[in-house]
Amino acid sequence: MLIFILPDAKAVSLKAADLAADLVRKKSGAVLGLAAGATPLAMYGELVRRHQAGEADLSAITAFGLDEYLSLGADHPASCAHTLRQHFTQPLGLPESRIHLLDGLFQGDMAAYCADYEARIAKAGGLDLQILGLGVNGHIGFNEPGCSLGGRTHPVCLRSSTLATNQRTVFAPLGEDVPKSAVSMGVATILAAKRVLLLATGASKADAVAKAVEGPVTAMIPASALQLHPDATLLLDQAAASRLLLKDDYAAESVYLDKTL
Ligand code: F6R
Repeated sequence: MLIFILPDAKAVSLKAADLAADLVRKKSGAVLGLAAGATPLAMYGELVRRHQAGEADLSAITAFGLDEYLSLGADHPASCAHTLRQHFTQPLGLPESRIHLLDGLFQGDMAAYCADYEARIAKAGGLDLQILGLGVNGHIGFNEPGCSLGGRTHPVCLRSSTLATNQRTVFAPLGEDVPKSAVSMGVATILAAKRVLLLATGASKADAVAKAVEGPVTAMIPASALQLHPDATLLLDQAAASRLLLKDDYAAESVYLDKTL
């Protein structure tokens, strides 16, 4: 893993936008996997700004949503689809044919639906870049502690820690109850992406970051599976990096690698 420890959340967003824009500059039709949640929004905003200012051209990308709450439609303000459309695909003006979002209202054969989502990713050529946030319990996508590290897109039950966090931060302000289940790309789907960028900011993520980076690879911390990925980059602010034992070494290494790669 390449770990960048940056001064603050804004620097994390700008660095993430730099890396994503660089990838799209090299491959204009890049296939991007996109997390919702709060953390990547400023990065998406910066990419949209660069696109609209003519500093980057994201018009040929294909977008795949990472996950979705079951029972929420794409018009629900807390749905991942709504977030990604509002902050990214709509302002970029991407055509519907290149926007793939998991349907939280899907009724029917869920296994077939999930297999079809995987087939759509494969048909697009696979994910060139997967953008991830990090749950305080170490989840990536909605792959929760105890998940299968070999899992592909699948329905999941959210753990009590995620329910509590998301109830407090997202659903209570809307006066609603957090959905108890979701559908998510699996850890193996994420690991199959050619490049992974995980963004984590704030002290609430420090414990999960430390376990994901410096603990064993374990399904109890799904993000620890990124240790197995050949090209995973973690972009952290000081607070999220605060519990890393080797943080000074990572900081020195990232300065070196940034100059040489
Ligand atoms: C959302 C997702 C989740 C979030 C994670 C962190 O699509 O996949 O794994 O990335 O819960 O959420 P925030 O960024 O809101 O702290």
